[in-house]
Amino acid sequence: MYRLVFSQVLRRLDAEAVHHLTVRALTLLSVLPLVKRLLHKALAPHDPALRVSAFGVHFPGPLGLAAGFDKDAACAEGAAALGFGHVEVGTITAHGQPGNPRPRLFRLVGERAVINRMGFNNAGAAAAARRLRRVRGVPVVVGVNIGKTKVVPESGATADYVASARRLAPLADYLVVNVSSPNTPGLRDLQAVSLLRPLLTAVKEVADGTPRRTPLLVKIAPDLADEDVDAVADLALELGLDGVIATNTTIRHGGETGGLSGRPLKGRSLEVLRRLRARVGDRITLVSVGGVEDVDDVWERLLAGATLVQGYTGWVYGGPLWASTIHRQLSRRVRRHGFTSITEVIGRTAPQARTAPEARTAPEARTAPGAGTAPGATR
Ligand SMILES: Cc1cc2nc3c(=O)[nH]c(=O)nc-3n(C[C@H](O)[C@H](O)[C@H](O)COP(=O)(O)O)c2cc1C
Repeated sequence: MYRLVFSQVLRRLDAEAVHHLTVRALTLLSVLPLVKRLLHKALAPHDPALRVSAFGVHFPGPLGLAAGFDKDAACAEGAAALGFGHVEVGTITAHGQPGNPRPRLFRLVGERAVINRMGFNNAGAAAAARRLRRVRGVPVVVGVNIGKTKVVPESGATADYVASARRLAPLADYLVVNVSSPNTPGLRDLQAVSLLRPLLTAVKEVADGTPRRTPLLVKIAPDLADEDVDAVADLALELGLDGVIATNTTIRHGGETGGLSGRPLKGRSLEVLRRLRARVGDRITLVSVGGVEDVDDVWERLLAGATLVQGYTGWVYGGPLWASTIHRQLSRRVRRHGFTSITEVIGRTAPQARTAPEARTAPEARTAPGAGTAPGATR
């Protein structure tokens, strides 16, 4: 049904117009308590076998909505009612900004991909904080993804991220430092460890200072060289971060200027996940995103060591029931394989972690492969 609506109607409309329509529909859903609750009852994951704990937060299922869809934290409840186990809102910047000129969002239907150069269009941290403060009518895990305001120079980046973190960390179930979007000039340079260390240290101080200690993750690009992936992984361990999200969109493509997401990103995203897992084992949470299209992809990411999986482009092509269907299929698959919990799947096919220099003494480094427990869960 959705395939028909997509091919006959949606794909003929401007991609960003459809995006705004969808956000509006989900925002409306977010303020209709009865419909929201009914949908949540029908579509959200309720199977105890799908529950995952990571960094002390309990997720009803492993598949969440990646950052970039709900940039202004307007419709997380609506997305949760459609079956996502968590919603990562943002990227939110300290100051509101319009983003890049339109057109800035392009579908590559034949490749099941999207190119975007949105440029962090959002109303800013203060507006997002007001929205996040609203009472939640259905249970929803909300991650908050923060980035640098475009007009702020690199020298002011840390202060800019800290300003967002101060406003948003107390309202987030977890906080993400995004240094990997390709559409803010210079942003990805912040992935260099020499710049990333002071940035993450300062944001972590803010996140650690909230009443519940907000877990902190960093989101990285698929275009990092392998050694740089290792370097960020080692830094995350050294600083005591809660996790790494891999990956953002890639600029390695021959199309429109912008970041490419969807099916063509699948291979590299999985490769980065495997590399990270080999480096950090289960000492920090890995969140895998990039080219996830169906239950097989989610399963593969879990086996490779991701505790949580996210998708965006797969949902664009898969339709409104995408997340709900995948969670239902995961429930069946867990039982078919003789597991009682999805957490037993995590890292099953991952090789043992190579010990990073900073963490040689950590006892978890010797955990056997396939131990399969979700990391964290200490709060
Ligand atoms: C239109 C669009 C906007 C995005 N905006 C953001 C963003 O603001 N912040 C961010 O961290 N990632 C953003 N992303 C990247 C996604 O979160 C995700 O990392 C990437 O698309 C790969 O996943 P996918 O193949 O499932 O789409 C965006 C992706 C798309 C398609």
